[in-house]
Amino acid sequence: MSGRTIAALAAVMVGVLFMAACQPAVNVSRVPAVRTGLPLAPKDPPLLPVDASGKPMHPSVAEGAKVFSKTQCLICHGPEGLGNGPAAGNLKSPGKNLLTDFLALFGIRATGEQLPSRPANFHNLVQMRLNSPFNMYETVTRGRPNTAMPAFGPRPAYGATTFGVKLTDQDRWNVIFFEWAFTTSPAQVARGKQIYETQAVPVHGQGLTCAACHGVAGDGRGREGLEIAKKRWNWARGMGPGIFTDVNLMAQRKPTDLFQVTADGFDDMPSYRGVLSDDDIWAVVSYIWTFIYTYPQAPR
Ligand code: HEC
Ligand code: HEC
Repeated sequence: MSGRTIAALAAVMVGVLFMAACQPAVNVSRVPAVRTGLPLAPKDPPLLPVDASGKPMHPSVAEGAKVFSKTQCLICHGPEGLGNGPAAGNLKSPGKNLLTDFLALFGIRATGEQLPSRPANFHNLVQMRLNSPFNMYETVTRGRPNTAMPAFGPRPAYGATTFGVKLTDQDRWNVIFFEWAFTTSPAQVARGKQIYETQAVPVHGQGLTCAACHGVAGDGRGREGLEIAKKRWNWARGMGPGIFTDVNLMAQRKPTDLFQVTADGFDDMPSYRGVLSDDDIWAVVSYIWTFIYTYPQAPR
């Protein structure tokens, strides 16, 4: 090794020691012993608007249907939500980008490349089962950048268009659940309810239905659910995975997430693969959503 190499190595060593000395030190002996009975953090504020008593709203398909036609969603999405409204054929993306915005500073009105834009078809199960309600809510609120889908909330996202109509928070939640309802039918929801309340799998030697744990009302307060609440803090508080009335959690879930846990199980949740067919699981998943929105009883 040459003298220069040794000098360089020594310099690196000194540097490393210097940096090590500068690290903040944690004195483990001073960390207080873990105490039990500490108060838990307050619950997150609800994603959905709350009423006077602080209860989150229960979006309604019937109310959403009114918003859908009143707001002209159907011009693009079609009266049946099939994505085939009268305007659907010649929709274009807004053609807005940094260059067009820059030119606008000098009063030059230019449009960027405009691509054709197809409205969503809410009967497309492959697409809809990968959507969460919150995802759709964000799209309706902020619009979808670089597509013809306009913003209906107070401010569009960058690169999204507007339509000259603003909807209240309530109306936006109602209308997305109207669209959500195109993925199911009264018969499927009824079948899901029947499975939820009657289809048992053997767990620890006893036959348990979904309702035995998750509760007939989806709040986790079934007979067995109360046992689970003794060991799971989230069930004890009526929130988190498996509590289908927890709107914050459910609004961010996708049907595919619920399908997967029902089929494969997770922790205290038994696997229903082989007990229920895929169609049965989709039916029960459709039913589970109705704990956070009002699905019409009569066929539409
Ligand atoms: C000017 C035409 C137009 C109008 C009006 C319109 N949409 Fe859209 N919408 C679109 C287009 C185009 C898309 C597809 C965007 C894309 O390519 O991702 C879309 C997508 C959506 C999506 C996303 C679906 C998904 O699977 O990702 C939702 C939700 C939606 N629209 C709801 C609404 C609602 C609710 C209204 C009325 C309040 C409405 N749209 C009005 C054109 C429109
Ligand atoms: C033995 C009690 C028990 C039974 C019976 C049961 N579950 Fe569960 N389930 C749970 C528990 C506990 C969880 C929470 C697991 C976790 O922490 O992610 C759960 C989670 C779930 C989830 C995931 C929720 C989410 O947001 O991640 C779904 C969906 C679900 N259960 C559906 C069902 C369905 C449908 C049935 C009946 C066909 C059923 N469960 C029967 C206990 C049960």
